[in-house]
Amino acid sequence: MSPDDTLATRGANAAAKLPPHVARRRTFAIISHPDAGKTTLTEKLLLFGGAIQLAGAVKARGEQRRAHSDWMKVERERGISVTASVMTFEYDDRYFNLLDTPGHEDFSEDTYRVLTAVDSAVMVIDAARGIQSQTRKLFEVCRLRDMPIITFINKMDREAQDPFVLLDEIEQTLQIEVTPASWPIGMGQRFLGCYDLIGDRLVLLDRKGRGVKPHRVEECRGLDDPRLDALLPDYAVAELREQVEMVRGLCPAFDREAYLAGNMTPVYFGSAINNFGVGELLEGLVGHAPAPRPQPTAERPIMPGEDKVSGFVFKIQANMDPKHRDRIAFVRLASGHFRRGMKLRHVRTDKTMAMHNPVLFLARDRELAEEAWAGDIIGVPNHGNLHIGDALTEGETLHFTGIPSFAPEHLQRVRPTDPMRAKHLGRALTQLAEEGVARVFRPRVGTDWIVGVVGALQFEVLADRIRTEYDVPVAFEPVALHTARWVSAPDEAALKKFIKANEGAIADDHRGDPVFLARNAWHLDRAGEDWPDIKLLATMEQAG
Ligand code: G4P
Repeated sequence: MSPDDTLATRGANAAAKLPPHVARRRTFAIISHPDAGKTTLTEKLLLFGGAIQLAGAVKARGEQRRAHSDWMKVERERGISVTASVMTFEYDDRYFNLLDTPGHEDFSEDTYRVLTAVDSAVMVIDAARGIQSQTRKLFEVCRLRDMPIITFINKMDREAQDPFVLLDEIEQTLQIEVTPASWPIGMGQRFLGCYDLIGDRLVLLDRKGRGVKPHRVEECRGLDDPRLDALLPDYAVAELREQVEMVRGLCPAFDREAYLAGNMTPVYFGSAINNFGVGELLEGLVGHAPAPRPQPTAERPIMPGEDKVSGFVFKIQANMDPKHRDRIAFVRLASGHFRRGMKLRHVRTDKTMAMHNPVLFLARDRELAEEAWAGDIIGVPNHGNLHIGDALTEGETLHFTGIPSFAPEHLQRVRPTDPMRAKHLGRALTQLAEEGVARVFRPRVGTDWIVGVVGALQFEVLADRIRTEYDVPVAFEPVALHTARWVSAPDEAALKKFIKANEGAIADDHRGDPVFLARNAWHLDRAGEDWPDIKLLATMEQAG
């Protein structure tokens, strides 16, 4: 593939030809380390977009809507809370789909998969802490997909690191070019606001201000404008001129192509809690963030402007109500114009599914939303037949790629505390594995179930869910296992030979794919050396 022929570039080229409804859509996620301010920023974006009236009122408004909204009725009847998973708002003639990423320290596959369903990301960094472990991991996932990223350095109203140090850290740690879109004037108690380097404006923080946009915007004719001297204290204006001159010398100018290819990130400074910098960030999203991008499949790239509807399942949310077994499959539409009532082909099972009751996240008045376009997310209630990675199309056979499973880093044995419930445990585990929250392995030798997760915290969550949703109290126990690897062989005979020779270490995952359970790193290395034609895979594509 030549550099001009990447999906990102084709996406940008194709954007010009998109139907207007699709061209307006911006589907993105916010990535951050816990506590950096993702929730606060999300709320402020919704506030600026008019999707909520007052910050902090998300819940109250939800209750109010519940009274008269069909959509909410579906949610209530099924006992599923999907409201916060996808948030839609409009700003400056753009429809934004903001996808929530789960927010705890354990890196979860769920987060990865949400990132497969967005076209760009906003990375929030705590100005005092800089790049933290979670930011780095999530960033790497974005990089794998050449995803355009806008950076928001938050909490400038607190004592922060030097902005030059922060920019340098982003550049060095994440290996991406940085270009500041705004420049902070002071920090902490002395934080006065930012100079908007794109619009040549001074945006001043008004700490006592009320309303959505409490700050003052002063237009300037560049940094030499004498108005700056009148508006800022002497020390601040001198420092600002000096720093901006320096940063302009050090950092390249904003280059949209480089941003779209995921090689450059524009950086905004702000304070989400003070609504500061949020408007500029939104304008950055409006101006630069990509419209729905092409989606890769094993067969061909799917262009968002195509007429026929296609989409893939990237997340399954189980019903929290133990009386129901329903789940919602979140489908990212890759192409076409979706309408409620459509019949789509579920490619993996080759069955037709009527979309009678899709949960649509399209408009502000959700009950009126009957249609959706490429870039949007629809929720499809189902009884477990839709799996992560599955494709829905108007007939074509497509297998969306790039939605992997990760080899678990933590493995434990799980047993029902009441042996009579063993069968129920099997069902619960299979369903949870289909939902994508854990890997479940059935060793060929013995009767135990082995559960694998990416973050250790997930064991507790699983035990709780198995007990409350399936009525099976369970105990997780440590096992002497290091990791699991999917086994891939050049042919059936080689696979059989490997399995026979390693029977004690072979298990099947919930789909029946063979897995090698390594006792320790040496065991894994040894198997690799002894069986050079066998691939032991740490990730597995989930194309359904
Ligand atoms: P997260 O979703 O990334 O985990 O972060 P969240 O928005 O919950 O923010 C974490 C904490 O940081 C919260 O404080 C929040 O109020 C605070 N915060 C967010 N943005 C800013 C900012 O721009 N400046 C300052 N000074 N603080 C900010 P908390 O004490 O944990 O919670 P709360 O009691 O304030 O809700």
